Amino acid sequence: PRRTPLIAGNWKMNLDHLQAIAFVQKLAWSLKDARHDFTAVEVAVFPPFTDLRSVQTLVAADKLPLAFGAQDLSEHESGAYTGEISGAFLAQLECQYVIIGHSERRTLHAETDEQVAAKVVAALTHNLVPIICVGETAADLELHGPSAVPVAQLRAALAGVTRAADIVVAYEPVWAIGSGQAATPEQAEQVAAALRVVLNETLGQDVADKTRILYGGSVKAVNIAGFMREPNVDGALVGGASLDINEFSGIVRFQ
Ligand code: G3H
Repeated sequence: PRRTPLIAGNWKMNLDHLQAIAFVQKLAWSLKDARHDFTAVEVAVFPPFTDLRSVQTLVAADKLPLAFGAQDLSEHESGAYTGEISGAFLAQLECQYVIIGHSERRTLHAETDEQVAAKVVAALTHNLVPIICVGETAADLELHGPSAVPVAQLRAALAGVTRAADIVVAYEPVWAIGSGQAATPEQAEQVAAALRVVLNETLGQDVADKTRILYGGSVKAVNIAGFMREPNVDGALVGGASLDINEFSGIVRFQ
């Protein structure tokens, strides 16, 4: 079954709201100039929370075919959780997606598999499509091989999910993030295939067939095509290169 590729730009903690407006406008022009077919390759940006309103306004005003979402959400609905952002707020800002369990959240903020699972449920409650991030460290790779940790993380993340769920999975080897040392397309395919087996076992064939599995970790315009040729890789979650218009539009136009 054909899955529409998704190129997702995770800005991390970069671009304030004025820079975000300028960036989204430039990105839209660049893709328009290149006659990008947004139905053939979906493009999404993930700005900091404080930029979401600006991006929403711009996308609505200029009717840009860009999707957007947040980089995290709270597992809670509302209440005394200082500094947290609920899925309800994100849905009101017309976010379509939310990144969950990024390795920077897992390591720098000690997010557990249980929290990731709760956040996935919270996202789905508000009709946000969770982009569930999984990936092994260099030490995991040496100890357990390539697929064991990502597979276990995905199983754990899906603990509260029903069979009809609309989700995206992002395989991001921690050793490849921001390191300039991307996985090879073959490595990405091997793990993506193992993750699709997990989807099949837990959520059934339909969901496994339609769920997009992204690769992330030092993706650039120059290496994207190799990943996109792999049958189980359906797009990319891009960090550093998503902040450079030429790089990012190069990635989007991988064909
Ligand atoms: O979410 C994006 C990833 O962490 C990849 O980051 O493209 O800078 O390696 P990177």
